[in-house]
Amino acid sequence: MDRIRIRGGRTLRGTIPVGGAKNASLPLMAAALLTDGPLVLTNAPALDDVRTMARLLEQHGLAVEHDTRTRQISLSGAATSLEAPYDLVRKMRASVLVLGPLLARYGEARVSLPGGCAIGTRPVDLHLRGLEQMGARINLDGGYIGATVSGRLKGARIHFPQVSVGATENLLMAAALAEGTTELLNAAREPEIGDLAACLIAMGARIEGVGTDRLLVHGVDSLHGATHPVIPDRIEAGTYACAAAITGGEVLLEGAKLAHLGACARVLAEAGVELDEVPQGLRVRRVDGLRGVDIMTEPFPGFATDMQAQTMTLMCVAEGASMVTETIFENRFMHVPELNRMGARINVHGSSAIVRGVARLSGAPVMATDLRASFSLVLAGLAAAGDTVVNRVYHLDRGYEGVEAKLAGVGADIERLRD
Ligand code: EPZ
Repeated sequence: MDRIRIRGGRTLRGTIPVGGAKNASLPLMAAALLTDGPLVLTNAPALDDVRTMARLLEQHGLAVEHDTRTRQISLSGAATSLEAPYDLVRKMRASVLVLGPLLARYGEARVSLPGGCAIGTRPVDLHLRGLEQMGARINLDGGYIGATVSGRLKGARIHFPQVSVGATENLLMAAALAEGTTELLNAAREPEIGDLAACLIAMGARIEGVGTDRLLVHGVDSLHGATHPVIPDRIEAGTYACAAAITGGEVLLEGAKLAHLGACARVLAEAGVELDEVPQGLRVRRVDGLRGVDIMTEPFPGFATDMQAQTMTLMCVAEGASMVTETIFENRFMHVPELNRMGARINVHGSSAIVRGVARLSGAPVMATDLRASFSLVLAGLAAAGDTVVNRVYHLDRGYEGVEAKLAGVGADIERLRD
């Protein structure tokens, strides 16, 4: 397994290109099941999760061409298999996003239940309940979700009891091809939902309320191919903003958009990080020392859970104490013991963590359990005295393209140690 070695203490300066969003690309690729296409996605990132989704769609029978040079993914054809197998779904939970499109278009689907993961139990009950409200019959058997509908899915009024990004995406795609109108209430408002809606509209879907928590979808009989640019990755942008901030540097995040950061922009500003939107993207600069800030994760436009670990690392070297409360996932503090091994002072009490800032972290060999936690350790390594070796880099490769090249490009002393 590859590892990443970082020698801390370098100030980052220069330009980091921000790629297409992983969490937008995955539902957008699943949307290709709604049409024979072709659906062409531009600005697509070359990430392991994107490759896993491509493999899943290929085994459904679609032709997938991913040109990493032009950053274009082209998806076309009809599904020949309606089953999403355990082997692929267990690698990536977002595979469950094929359920809505397959059911809406083919009236049938068999998708492995994703199961829990390192950050929480992550059930899919909201996806299933919504599809049932649209007339689907759901049967859980042998670890699989079996879903069928006689005729087409029917429009329904679906009120989510809790905001879910994935359930909103699955039902939005299903509703696009349903008979009649579907109302999605308490829908997620993440920029990735807006991107999926924009792509579906380009494919011929009729959707109102984009950007709000009430989406109205007037089902159509069929959808057609389209070309759609994937939005920039707001979490990648926020992560590199933390990298600039923790090293006291100044970085241009090329292509990033301030509005996509939601409350994260305000938190960074309160912590002493300047963020300026410029025509090329977002300029990030730390002027003085970092200040501790309290953070609570919430659905968009609240503070993103996907930025919690990275921001906590910033707080480790900020002046004063910070309280970090995680409300989305029950087990998303796995980075804490590793940060403490690097000299951080963090105490976890249930779903909150108190972080007391220290003057300096010290490099150490560390191990992470999920994507964002891995990057929080890279950030700690950038600020630490001495060498940090981050193990299990495969987590990073799922969602950050070219980490070493991007960081080395702005002056970090970083290298990948290949096994
Ligand atoms: C998406 O996951 C993202 N993944 C996650 O990104 C992100 O952390 C999460 O949204 C929250 O923003 C993708 O977009 C591919 P949810 P998703 O459904 O859709 C509970 C990353 O690092 N819930 O919004 O799976 C759930 O357990 C990742 O890139 C139910 O109870 O998240 C959680 O507590 C990891 N029942 C909360 O809702 C359901 O049926 C929000 O989950 C569905 C969700």
